[in-house]
Amino acid sequence: TKSRKKIYEGKAKILYEGPEPGTLVQYFKDDATAFNAQKKAVLDGKGVINNRISEFVMTKLNNIGVQNHFIKRLNLREQLIREVEIIPLEVVCRNVVAGSMAKRFGLPEGQQLPRSIIEFYYKNDALEDPMVTEEHVTAFNWANTQEIDEILAMTLRVNDFLSGMFAAVGITLVDFKIEYGRLFEGEFSRVILADEISPDSCRLWDSTTGDKLDKDRFRRDMGNVIESYTEVAKRLGIMGDMPKV
Ligand code: C5P
Repeated sequence: TKSRKKIYEGKAKILYEGPEPGTLVQYFKDDATAFNAQKKAVLDGKGVINNRISEFVMTKLNNIGVQNHFIKRLNLREQLIREVEIIPLEVVCRNVVAGSMAKRFGLPEGQQLPRSIIEFYYKNDALEDPMVTEEHVTAFNWANTQEIDEILAMTLRVNDFLSGMFAAVGITLVDFKIEYGRLFEGEFSRVILADEISPDSCRLWDSTTGDKLDKDRFRRDMGNVIESYTEVAKRLGIMGDMPKV
């Protein structure tokens, strides 16, 4: 199995050819990058935890009818996924002001938003993922209006479900980034959730202390990155057979 063809290597994950047509194997690396890969480190065990957390979240979403690429976890670092044509957008949903939104509008981190806000960024490292509007998305054919509608509706469902799931274990879902892909069935395609959902792609704050339990610990050199990711997994009840890191 180790001679599998590599299809794509990103900053935190590798995609290999899957065992059957239309499938891929998604491998979670320990590499962490921030600020468009200007900051890099290897965080021992991160890939294992994110593989588990993403499996847990994608499975739950699938159970409530949010279709996604996840098929099954294969081992500590790999999961079998459906091959999709990735839509080149980073879809960010925010409930609380933080990160680039705090910076862009000069708002304090932690301010509750009056309603959830969805933003689109064009996925392009060379351009540093510029923020775009639906006008850009349709003008440049990154997605059509029907696909945008599906993306908006699915993102709000993901946000509602994940907000509740995390709230139940004392964690505030501040914001998150998700990606979508097209699943082809003959000449037709539909949009499904792809990529990963993990503390690398979400802001997760302890609801009582406000402690950050996500990648900001790495971005801001706060330490205890793996310990915080592990805490998230523990609270979700998925630490059972996780190897100690
Ligand atoms: O940096 P910003 O505040 O725009 O990030 C919003 C959310 O999207 C955060 O949860 C962050 O972790 C996530 N994100 C990501 N990948 C990026 C940019 C942001 O996962 N390239």
